Amino acid sequence: MNTVQNIETIQLSKVVSDFLNEEKKLFIGGEFVSSSSNNTFQTLNPANNEVLAEIHEASEEDVNSAVQAAKDAFENGQWSTMTPLERGDLIYKLAILIDEHKQYIAEIDSLDNGKPLAELLENDLPNAIGQFKYFSGWASKLMGQHIPVNGDFLNYTRHEPIGVVGQIIPWNFPFMMAAWKIAPALAAGCTIILKSAEQTPLSALYLAKLVQEAGFPKGVINIVSGHGETTGAALVKHPLVNKIAFTGSTEVGKIIMKEAANTMKRVTLELGGKSPNIILKDADLDKAAEGVFAGIMYNQGEVCSAGSRAYVHSSIYEEFVDRLVNLAKKVKLGTGLQSGITMGPLVSEEQKERVINYIEIGKSEGAKLVYGGGASEQGCFVEPTIFGDVEDDMRISREEIFGPVLVVSKFENELEVVERANDSEYGLGAGVWTENITKAHKIANKLKSGSIWINCYNATDPASPFGGFKNSGFGREMGSYALENYTEVKSIWVNLN
Ligand code: NAI
Ligand code: MG
Repeated sequence: MNTVQNIETIQLSKVVSDFLNEEKKLFIGGEFVSSSSNNTFQTLNPANNEVLAEIHEASEEDVNSAVQAAKDAFENGQWSTMTPLERGDLIYKLAILIDEHKQYIAEIDSLDNGKPLAELLENDLPNAIGQFKYFSGWASKLMGQHIPVNGDFLNYTRHEPIGVVGQIIPWNFPFMMAAWKIAPALAAGCTIILKSAEQTPLSALYLAKLVQEAGFPKGVINIVSGHGETTGAALVKHPLVNKIAFTGSTEVGKIIMKEAANTMKRVTLELGGKSPNIILKDADLDKAAEGVFAGIMYNQGEVCSAGSRAYVHSSIYEEFVDRLVNLAKKVKLGTGLQSGITMGPLVSEEQKERVINYIEIGKSEGAKLVYGGGASEQGCFVEPTIFGDVEDDMRISREEIFGPVLVVSKFENELEVVERANDSEYGLGAGVWTENITKAHKIANKLKSGSIWINCYNATDPASPFGGFKNSGFGREMGSYALENYTEVKSIWVNLN
């Protein structure tokens, strides 16, 4: 049993305790404003379920004002007339400010989401800063083509910003998800209304302060807090919003896609997953066990591309499962702000209940619980959990759990295992572990997923695309591909006769 550690919590930075005491208003048109309805909601610390702050909730009227501010900034504001180099400079300036404030942002996300502070400082924050740095350079490199057409014409294309974009993000990487969404949209010249997740609204509001400090023209970036069915839905149906970029559940992704059809909004969706790892018999077992374990347990398993299914060759199955169990025993559960812990609580009681329910389903389906399965009485902690001898048709092998639960299955034949790995409604990530580089590439080509990792898992970079096949959504974040989400192509013809 991984008991919750009782280590002293680090002292919060003064900046963060002051921030927690400030009023949490909406950021619209460059100003912090109160909710028009005066409604607020609470955000909790999932380690102890204590209230961290009261948050102003954006009503439909507030969403309308945010959209209008973004529309004004797009049509008449300084943003559209700013030179690309100046636009890039501002985006870079925001990156530098985030870097200067990274300790504070990490503390805020650790409190609000539960995840370990060290992971925020090693991954989420450098990654977010990287997004702004990377995309700042693209602001001045968006180019169309000059196309040799038949007849006496000059024909060329312009890649123009799509306009006002609504961005709806989840709670699993609160600050990093905001960066993934905002940075490419800014580079393309769009204006933005970002809706944070109701479980983790704090770090986006801190970002709003930095946006103000950087000196972005009013209305270029608006940040609203609120629930999905109200604030989120108001954004999705608004006729002046040209595009919605969404990360979250497949269920909500489908609702958004249907609603967006009414106003013909462009939509990109980054949704759920049930990503497989395939471990061939010639894999480097040290590397593979650690990679597969981290691939599911990182961020408490609350990762859309988590490697939640493992297919292990029968000849190494027992040894591999033993190694996974040894790694699970070493996990130190505790609140994100304690030093030395390696796994925090899940984000909410709701998510904890959901994961516990799946653990019960796994047991009742007859899968072998080889490790874990326990949860804390207080706070939202769930032990790292491993099921063995899992059959492909079990619900724990087919449905997204979004928690620290790995299902392990055996295979004999390499051709057959690729089919089994692909037999999923999802297609976000997949891993292959082998020392045979030819096999690795052949398998990588056959896997139906947006990212394939060979002898690694969950590697990402601002320059490399990320996104899904099948029910994992469509559109690619990061890299030059992300810019396509935020531009329209215009073809211009000039008669030379
Ligand atoms: P969710 O899909 O409901 O929430 C994600 C975001 O969408 C939040 O900002 C939420 O306020 C917003 N939203 C919800 N309903 C909306 C609507 N009708 N219109 C517009 N926006 C809406 O996900 P939830 O309930 O937090 O988690 C449920 C499950 O979803 C998780 O257990 C996990 O399986 C999956 N999930 C996947 C994520 C991913 O990264 N792909 C992230 C979060 C959750
Ligand atoms: Mg919270």
